[in-house]
Amino acid sequence: MPGCAILGAQWGDEGKGKIVDLLARRAHMVVRFQGGANAGHTIHHRGKVLVLHQVPSGILRPGCVNLVANGCVLDPILLVDEILALRGLGVQVEPSNLGISERAHVVTPLHRHLDSLSGSTIGTTGRGIGPCYTDKARRVGIRMESLAQGNLLPQWERLLEYHASALDAVDPSAISNLRAAGDSLQRAASFLAPFIRDIRHELHRADSDDRNILLEGAQGALLDLDHGTYPFVTSSNTTIGGAYTGTGVHLRIQHRIAVLKAYTTRVGNGPFPTELHGSIGQRLRRVGNEYGATTGRPRRCGWLDLPILTESAMANGFTAMALTKLDCLTGMDPIRVATGRTPSGDPSYQDLAGWTADISTARAISQLPSRCRAYLNFLERHTEIPISILSLGPARDQTLLQEPPW
Ligand code: IMP
Repeated sequence: MPGCAILGAQWGDEGKGKIVDLLARRAHMVVRFQGGANAGHTIHHRGKVLVLHQVPSGILRPGCVNLVANGCVLDPILLVDEILALRGLGVQVEPSNLGISERAHVVTPLHRHLDSLSGSTIGTTGRGIGPCYTDKARRVGIRMESLAQGNLLPQWERLLEYHASALDAVDPSAISNLRAAGDSLQRAASFLAPFIRDIRHELHRADSDDRNILLEGAQGALLDLDHGTYPFVTSSNTTIGGAYTGTGVHLRIQHRIAVLKAYTTRVGNGPFPTELHGSIGQRLRRVGNEYGATTGRPRRCGWLDLPILTESAMANGFTAMALTKLDCLTGMDPIRVATGRTPSGDPSYQDLAGWTADISTARAISQLPSRCRAYLNFLERHTEIPISILSLGPARDQTLLQEPPW
């Protein structure tokens, strides 16, 4: 069976968690390959809303193996909390169904502190992601293997020393305050040690054995460090290339599914050509409950923008689309879609007729209003990418699967 990557096609928050959770039903493995606790993948499970930040979204499916690969940056203290919260809900989280790459980098309280000092221009999530990847590239970072090998504390001291002179200049008490976090880090290390291993071989074996492997992207293509709206981006490669470097295994990823909201949202700063500042944007925020799953920040909202989808399709080679939150457009008329740019660079729009009937209970495409189907046909024609998954609400059964990868 082929590998399948679930990738955000916009600026993140497209609803990837729900799609991964659905496809994980028949997946042998779910793998995170980039990002860290900046992600917030929302899943509705047994009447509860769960937001997964670092644990892959396949964790709720019994029998599914969840791997966090080398391209990720992990906050061990938050990860322990997340594992304990899942166990508190009766979800099994053991080394048999969760593996963490020894090569993934450790996000420390120092990185979160550095993010709080420098991240506001970009509007980061404040989770220490950029500073951790920066230390990785500087070759002074700490890898998860240190937690398993029992030498975390000397490395933590070395990292504090490395940053001491720059930090002392801003806040002379910062380093001694941060040093106190050593105990919490050590406790988290002891808890996590059994989960840490070289995951590449099990991943490679699963691929060779034709098992269903799901790669769970975080953030979105326009937040990719190289291909996004730099410098207003995250610090990892969110596009398909990140799945190869971020796992260290040449997987056969035959399906690359674009998760795409029927409109556009963005949190944090940076360009957003189709942003709506007035009542329509407010309505999308209200109906779509557009508040950050990680930070609670109100998301900026705007019309669907097909030129940015063309950009992300170029990087990802999408084979299908999962269109989410289509139900949030009900009652809007007209529905605008940006299809190009004017010579001055502004979006040029096409207006499509809206529908009023509630679509959130539809269980087949044929039950959708004809104007809604016309909207879907328009998107498929324009992008030349088939819509294989349609999400009409947060619940698992509010999903129409037309041609799932397995
Ligand atoms: P960082 O990833 O926290 O460094 O933030 C960099 C940029 O990416 C900011 O604009 C964040 O708002 C954005 N970002 C990071 N993670 C997510 C996410 O999961 N969803 C949406 N935006 C995100």
